[in-house]
Amino acid sequence: MANKGKLYGIGIGPGDSELITIKASKILKKVDVICSPKSSPKKESIALSIAKPILEERDDYEKLMVVEPVFPMTENDETLEKHWKEASIIIADYLDKGKDVGFITLGDPSIFSTFSYVQKILFDNYETELVPGITSFTACASSINKPLVEKNEILSIVPKIDERLDKVLDFSNSIVLMKTSRNPEELENLIHSKEGNKEITSVQNATQKNQKIIDGFSKDKPYLCTTIVKLEK
Ligand SMILES: C[S@@+](CC[C@H](N)C(=O)[O-])C[C@H]1O[C@@H](n2cnc3c(N)ncnc32)[C@H](O)[C@@H]1O
Repeated sequence: MANKGKLYGIGIGPGDSELITIKASKILKKVDVICSPKSSPKKESIALSIAKPILEERDDYEKLMVVEPVFPMTENDETLEKHWKEASIIIADYLDKGKDVGFITLGDPSIFSTFSYVQKILFDNYETELVPGITSFTACASSINKPLVEKNEILSIVPKIDERLDKVLDFSNSIVLMKTSRNPEELENLIHSKEGNKEITSVQNATQKNQKIIDGFSKDKPYLCTTIVKLEK
């Protein structure tokens, strides 16, 4: 791997640029290339807008190389794999030229991040490093000013409500429902139908200027929305 660049998966936190760690900031200021995924060619990359205040502190900001591969919002594996491979080829090209690449990702790079797929493709041939970030769900807990779990309680992180939910509800004290824009109402009703007191709070755009806290499930479902369910056992 000598003479090749290094690939960093950098967690840039949930939205407030002040929640970017000191370590992530240092790396953002030294890498040769920033790679910032976005969901459509026409849309602005959310991750890039969060990292911008740090990147603007670079003397070379105007000349900084930024690549924005598109990862469409689809569950079609074939389409997704095609886009991961295309992004990996672009990144590998910079790494082969000895350039360090910082792949920025919302929250933490180990939690449902596109970086994982790109890292898997490049892992054997290039040096890679994960730079942790503040996750969206811990930021959501801070926004509602309450702990997620205490004592010996169990926390489950659920990316999409499906038939597994019933079992998860039985053994969890707290549930974080991510990617809530994909959750159908019937399954939200399943949570309501469970016995015992529940506290359900949704947070949209946590720590961002347009943050919204909703009692219960969110009726409008923007992409950045997470629901925290606390179940009394
Ligand atoms: C692809 S996952 C990325 C998770 C991220 N890697 C993390 O560590 O939190 C995207 C989901 O994270 C949640 N999310 C990310 N940022 C958020 C925010 N600022 N407020 C609320 N939810 C957020 C939403 O549930 C969204 O659908």
